[in-house]
Amino acid sequence: MTTIKHSPKALKSISTVVIANKATKFDGLDLSPAELKYVNQKIKADEKSLVINQFNRLFFIKIKDDKKSGSALAESLRIEGASQASMLNKHKYTEVQILNYTGDDSNTLALAEGMALANHQFLKYRKEAKKEANSLSSIHVIVDKKQATAIAELNHVIEGTMIARNLVNEPQSYLTAEQFSKEMQAVGKSAGFRVEVFNKAKIKALKMGGLLAVNMGSQLPPTFTVMEYKPKNAKNKNPYVLVGKGVVYDTGGLSLKPTGNSMDYMKCDMGGGAAVVGTMYAIAKSKLPIYVVGLVPATDNRPGENAYCPGDVLTMMDGQTVEMLNADAEGRLILADALHYAKRYKPELTIDLATLTGAAAAAIGGYGIVAMGTADEAMKNKLKESGNNVYERLVELPLWDEYGDLLKSDIADMKNIGGPVAGAITAGKFLQKFIDYPWMHFDIAGPAFTHKADKYRGNGGTGVGVRLLSDFLKRQS
Ligand code: BES
Ligand code: ZN
Ligand code: ZN
Repeated sequence: MTTIKHSPKALKSISTVVIANKATKFDGLDLSPAELKYVNQKIKADEKSLVINQFNRLFFIKIKDDKKSGSALAESLRIEGASQASMLNKHKYTEVQILNYTGDDSNTLALAEGMALANHQFLKYRKEAKKEANSLSSIHVIVDKKQATAIAELNHVIEGTMIARNLVNEPQSYLTAEQFSKEMQAVGKSAGFRVEVFNKAKIKALKMGGLLAVNMGSQLPPTFTVMEYKPKNAKNKNPYVLVGKGVVYDTGGLSLKPTGNSMDYMKCDMGGGAAVVGTMYAIAKSKLPIYVVGLVPATDNRPGENAYCPGDVLTMMDGQTVEMLNADAEGRLILADALHYAKRYKPELTIDLATLTGAAAAAIGGYGIVAMGTADEAMKNKLKESGNNVYERLVELPLWDEYGDLLKSDIADMKNIGGPVAGAITAGKFLQKFIDYPWMHFDIAGPAFTHKADKYRGNGGTGVGVRLLSDFLKRQS
């Protein structure tokens, strides 16, 4: 884990990043006359990003792009930080400092964030883990001391993102539903929030028909995890409720998925649940004055001998019936029970996160999150703003009534699949039948998992959702 540390003044002879403007003078920075000449030439030639190998350290210069501001500028600095981190690791440096001549500390923090996020590795299963581990461990930021809280909070959000990434990267051979719940309990203990895990008997007693049906093909029991962070100084009386899809592995059930580029990475199908626990960690560690509840229904989805069959009719926790016509549309079934369960909190707002549909991934790829919901426009705008701040951008799709018609069943209250079109929306329309409060649905099927390292998003689980929700909840607190 890389830590971002505040330093009141520049440190001598460690690797350094300078964020600068085109007009910045670089004398007084321990550059030799030859190096200085090189830098000035390059900058004159409009070079935006330089690196000098001074043999005992790397010296980077990043010229701020004047055409960029706000979210685009921050993102360009995170990306720069990611590529610098990889160079520092290649040269086995353990420390770096960031100096900033642009007059805005948030530029320093964005670059540091990109470095720290990029530096994450999942080496648990590697024999040579020690050898392969990245060397970089401290990022010193030379910023105003007023930034101390911002730095602490940023570290917590990065740690929360790592928690989510690690959980997504864990294969189901380790991360069963019960193990996932144990991990959430451990996170609750370390961050200071309450965790309660419902076992199969309790889930049966609650009549969570969706979760139980998906679990029928499994050899292992389902769980339902309730996390509660309720500080005494919370500003809100009714909680924000976060619901995360916790399908620890999705084979598609009897509607079996093909292996290549499909089932082979379906350990990622608890990415929504991972984002919820990562967010709970970040807000609790930062002691934000906000009341938040996290709900994660968890199971694997398998074609076991007792597996639910296409054509079955299920009775959900709220009493509605569902004609299950595709065993691979399981996420909405377990989420529906969790969304119904959330009603008891009279939530200020409920947000569910789920790797729910291939259609969402096909629509916008990994470049953003497909969103829809019933929250008011002001709330939606705040969420979109947070999405832009952290570059986990939201693309809103409509929940028009006509899409609901596609879910009509001949024999039950609804079916669990729509037609050949608008797959991401019909999944959302399905969920909408189980809410009675302001609600948003984030389909993260596109951005939850990468197949090769993507800038600072890492390789494998990205932890998408943690930074977005942490930013949003911080601004609501
Ligand atoms: N877990 C998948 C969705 C998914 C796809 C997640 C790609 C991550 C990457 C989900 O349970 C699923 O299989 N959805 C089906 C729904 C369909 C049968 C209506 C899909 O999208 O094909
Ligand atoms: Zn599925
Ligand atoms: Zn799934």
